[in-house]
Amino acid sequence: MRPFTYINLAISIDGKLTTADRKLHGFGGPEDRDLMDELRSRADAVMIGAATLREEDPLLWVRKPERLVVRAEQGREPQPWNVIISRSLDLPSLEGSMFFNTPDFRRLVFTGMNHSEERVAEIRKLAEVYCVADVDQGLDLQAVSEKLYQMGARKLLLEGGGTLNFAMLKQGLVDELYLTLCPLIFGGDSATTAVGGAGFAFDQVRQLELLELKHGSNDRIYLRYRCKQV
Ligand SMILES: NC(=O)c1ccc[n+]([C@@H]2O[C@H](COP(=O)([O-])OP(=O)(O)OC[C@H]3O[C@@H](n4cnc5c(N)ncnc54)[C@H](OP(=O)(O)O)[C@@H]3O)[C@@H](O)[C@H]2O)c1
Repeated sequence: MRPFTYINLAISIDGKLTTADRKLHGFGGPEDRDLMDELRSRADAVMIGAATLREEDPLLWVRKPERLVVRAEQGREPQPWNVIISRSLDLPSLEGSMFFNTPDFRRLVFTGMNHSEERVAEIRKLAEVYCVADVDQGLDLQAVSEKLYQMGARKLLLEGGGTLNFAMLKQGLVDELYLTLCPLIFGGDSATTAVGGAGFAFDQVRQLELLELKHGSNDRIYLRYRCKQV
């Protein structure tokens, strides 16, 4: 068993998550940020790839007090668990990182089996660390999902980036996709796209079914898709 898993992303019209210099964040606008907050508030855990952690040092938190009230009424933890996927364990400086030093929420790092006990022990001072086997030159994300389910997570929000999105889609672990399509063109061969990795062969491309389409303010288009399982 694994959690119901949904991706949320803001993308440019040309399908990018960032500009080529990887410096453009928060381009979705206030309505998109509110959707992100709502989607986080429904999640038991929010997961990102280590590159997003290294670049943004984010707190994957619910901000709106009324949503925190609803979580409390439902008997849920105040904040969703924050989950990092990192094969290398090349993480931001443990002393200086906001992610690793903000108290009062559960941090989980999933990594491979090949790290020294010292390195794992160092990270364990600030986060829970789980070591899983590799498949397809990456972590066995099915095992990660099953572990999260065993720990009590029933809804998992995946917030990218493109490398992790691809790996999760490839392993058939995504149920829904929320996309905020922004009227911007970033261009740039090296700009991160919504789904990166090695890509799918044509007979393996993932297919989606449109569940919702909403025209938001500032010419944003909000889309929700169901991922058809292959
Ligand atoms: N616009 C948006 O909504 C949005 C959302 C999220 C992110 N972003 C942006 O996207 C960029 C990052 O995207 P990205 O594609 O470069 O990186 P990413 O997916 O955030 O992270 C990639 C890293 O995650 C780990 N990882 C991913 N899949 C793995 C697997 N199967 N097994 C083991 N480890 C795995 C690896 O970490 P190690 O290298 O540590 O092994 C890998 O290098 C950032 O600039 C971020 O700001 C934008």
